[in-house]
Amino acid sequence: MGHRIIFATGNEGKMKEIRLLLEDLGLPVLSMKEAGAFPEIVEDGRTFGENAEIKARAVWNCTGDIVLADDSGLVVDYIDGEPGIYSARYMGEDTSYEIKNRNIIERLEGARGSERSARFVCNIAAVLPDGRVLHTEETLEGLIAHRPAGTGGFGYDPILYLPEFGMTSAEITMEQKNKISHRGKALKAMAKALREVLKGEMERTEDENTNCQ
Ligand code: IMP
Repeated sequence: MGHRIIFATGNEGKMKEIRLLLEDLGLPVLSMKEAGAFPEIVEDGRTFGENAEIKARAVWNCTGDIVLADDSGLVVDYIDGEPGIYSARYMGEDTSYEIKNRNIIERLEGARGSERSARFVCNIAAVLPDGRVLHTEETLEGLIAHRPAGTGGFGYDPILYLPEFGMTSAEITMEQKNKISHRGKALKAMAKALREVLKGEMERTEDENTNCQ
């Protein structure tokens, strides 16, 4: 079939995770850099799905391979879904997460119990060689903590309290987080969807070969 899978990211941590999940597909999994694709990407979508697809399609336009991209963020219900797709840019790209996290907690002053509901969302888009696109989207549900806690993880992890653990997402271990995370679950679902596409493609090729005999 000669396919390659390219993940549109410069983040080595994400590459490790995706290589592990996709290794049984038996296809090479490359980063954008390894594939030599450096398109200019303008993330101007209105949803996580649109942004993931914009990134995947920009690389696909250069290579035509199976191209995957993800987009994720924190959605806080009490403040109308903010910071959402603007999670990385919230209060400015260079503002520390200590400040961003404190600001979100302040904006939830007065919110009690389930009014503090929030989630990490991750959408993965895969553009296939024929231009079709697949999406998977998963969440990690929690509540905005009353104060930041924990030193693990990154970004908004210290303020997403996970009731089933009695801890924030920055206090659980990396193994625990990988198992339940929005990204881990969306990647697993995408690995399954790709397995099905490739299996269908293999079966079609076998049928065509049988017809030739
Ligand atoms: P990206 O789409 O993976 O680059 O994520 C966008 C932003 O969402 C990050 O910069 C973080 O602010 C936030 N974010 C996404 N996933 C997580 C997570 O697992 N923990 C904490 N913050 C996250």
